[in-house]
Order: sequence, then structure tokens, then C-alpha cells
Amino acid sequence: MSVQTSSIIDAVADDFAIRLLGWYDRAARDLPWRIAPGSDAVPDPYRVWLAEVMLQQTTVASVAGYFARFTARWPTVADLAAAADADVMAAWAGLGYYARARNLLACARAVVADHGGRFPGSEAVLRALPGIGDYTAASVAAIAFGRPAVVVDANIERVIARHRLIETPLPMAKREIRAALAPVVPADRPGDFAQALMDLGATICTPRSPACAICPLMADCRARGRADVERLPVKPPKKAKPHRHGLAHWIERDAAIWLVRRPDKGMLGGMRALPGGDWGDARPAESGIASVDHGFTHFDLTLTLVRREVPDAAAEGLWWPIADLDAAGLPTLYRKLTDKMLERDA
Ligand code: ADE
Repeated sequence: MSVQTSSIIDAVADDFAIRLLGWYDRAARDLPWRIAPGSDAVPDPYRVWLAEVMLQQTTVASVAGYFARFTARWPTVADLAAAADADVMAAWAGLGYYARARNLLACARAVVADHGGRFPGSEAVLRALPGIGDYTAASVAAIAFGRPAVVVDANIERVIARHRLIETPLPMAKREIRAALAPVVPADRPGDFAQALMDLGATICTPRSPACAICPLMADCRARGRADVERLPVKPPKKAKPHRHGLAHWIERDAAIWLVRRPDKGMLGGMRALPGGDWGDARPAESGIASVDHGFTHFDLTLTLVRREVPDAAAEGLWWPIADLDAAGLPTLYRKLTDKMLERDA
């Protein structure tokens, strides 16, 4: 490439980052895990990592309370590594995707055991830790360590697919999005750059009715002004979700109910739960005292609550006072069911 061509590319690339970061300096959201742009504070990799894991598939609004509780109770990665599994699982209850909570703990323990309690800064070394995939490795490397990693989440996908008018459907478009982004990541502020794109996607380049008129990237956005901007990024065709059914048992004695812990492997692994059988395709023959519908990523579930008199003799579990059920750390599926049941009884 000639010197002239490469300097033109640099100028365009710099300009993209400059406009974006100029906007971020004025408009960055104030988030509890974030170092404000322009601040001299040094990011704490533990807090950055914890937030990024919590934020996968979950909104900023629903993470805030969890982040505050986790960091108050376990202020450092060593504190989290030393926590009891059941305490962490219960504190995570409601955030969903429970395999992430188990990996969170495994990762904290690996950082303590293998890295002397300090998160590594290299994207590749981060990637080797439990539960850290491409996204989390890149975001922690960029945000906590200032490494020029290419961070791509759903907000960033949307911003770049629109700006470059990428018509390839997701997930195939990911390669094009990364390729478009890699040359414009600024070496001096990669973490702010990633977070600026996230904020832009969350507040201006929104899925519906994007506010193009106030967008700092409007001048060269190829989707700007198109009536069908909302179509981008192009989604893959929706697969029909299977519908499953299951029973949960309400076994009550002396104002307490019998709770079990789900097996470590599988859906809601390691979480406290109501007892019950496997989930399958057949609608249960018994009509229950309550039921809930719950959407998981790969299937929808109807869970029907039925009364039983005594726990399965072989099952491990415990009697949990009904008045104290909030503290049991039940995942949302079971919370919905117990809430229904208790309203009914009230
Ligand atoms: N979503 C995921 N990570 C984020 C971050 N660091 N800032 C804002 N939104 C996010």
C-alpha cells in the first residue's frame, strides 16, 4: 500500500474514532463498573470482568442491583473465589443462564490459583479461563487493560452493520463486522471506544426508531435515512422453539416446603429448586394447583405445580420456611411458580 493510501485510511479511521469518542466524552452513561472518560482512576479488572459476565444477555438495568450486591459482599476476586458455591448461586438467582454463575466461580478460583489473584491482561490468556469467551476476553482486555482488542456485542453489531450497510445475516455477518472494526480501534482508548459503541447502540442507534439526527456517526453512515434501517442487522431466520412440559412438587409441612438442589449438569444446574420430574414433550396428565410458562433460550416450558405429601425417600433436600422463601435463591422459573401458589393461598 502506498504511503498516501495508508494515510488516507488512517485519516478516515481516526475520524470515526474521534467523532465517536468526542460524543462519548459528553454523553457516556454513568455506570457503576465504569471509569468515567477523562478520569485518572485505574479500572479494577475484577469489577470489569464481573460486569461483563453479568451483562451477557442481560440489560444494564437488571444488572445494577446484582453488581452492587456482589461487589459489597465479595469486594475482590479472592473473596469471590473463597465463597461457598451455594451462596454465589443464590446471589445470582434471577439473572438467568446459571451455567454462567458456575463458570464465574470457577474463573475466580482459577485467577487465584493460577494467576496469583490478578487477572491476566492478554486476550488469549483471558480466553483460556473458565467461562471467558471471545467477547468477554476482548472486553476485559480493552476496558480493564487498555489493549486494542476488537469488542463485538449485539449493540456494536447493530451500529456497524448499519454504518457499513452490511446485508449479510447474523451470525455470518460477524466476520465482516470484526473486519470493519479492527482498523478503527484507537490504540490509546480501546476500552472507551468499545463502551462508546455500546452506549451509542443502547441510546441512539437503537433497534427501533434510531435517533439518526443526533448520531455522531451520521455523516458517513450508509443506512442513515433509509426507511428500513430497523431491518439491520439482518437476523437469521427464526427456528421454531420446542415446547416442553414438566411437573414441580409442592410438599408442605409445618409452614415449610421441601426444596432440592438441581444436578450440577443441565438446565439451572446447581440451583435450588422445587422437586419434580424430568421435562419432556408430553403434557402432564395431572391438572395442577398452579402453572407457569417460561421461555428458555432453546425451548419454552410449561411447569405445572402439583401437591405431594412426602418427599421422595431417596432425595436430598431441606425444609425451607415459606415465610423466608425470598432468601432461598430460587431461579425465576420457580419463583414465578411459588409466587403464584402463595398468592393463591393468601
Ligand atoms: N454492555 C456490556 N458491557 C457494557 C459496558 N461495559 N458498558 C455498557 N454496556 C455494556
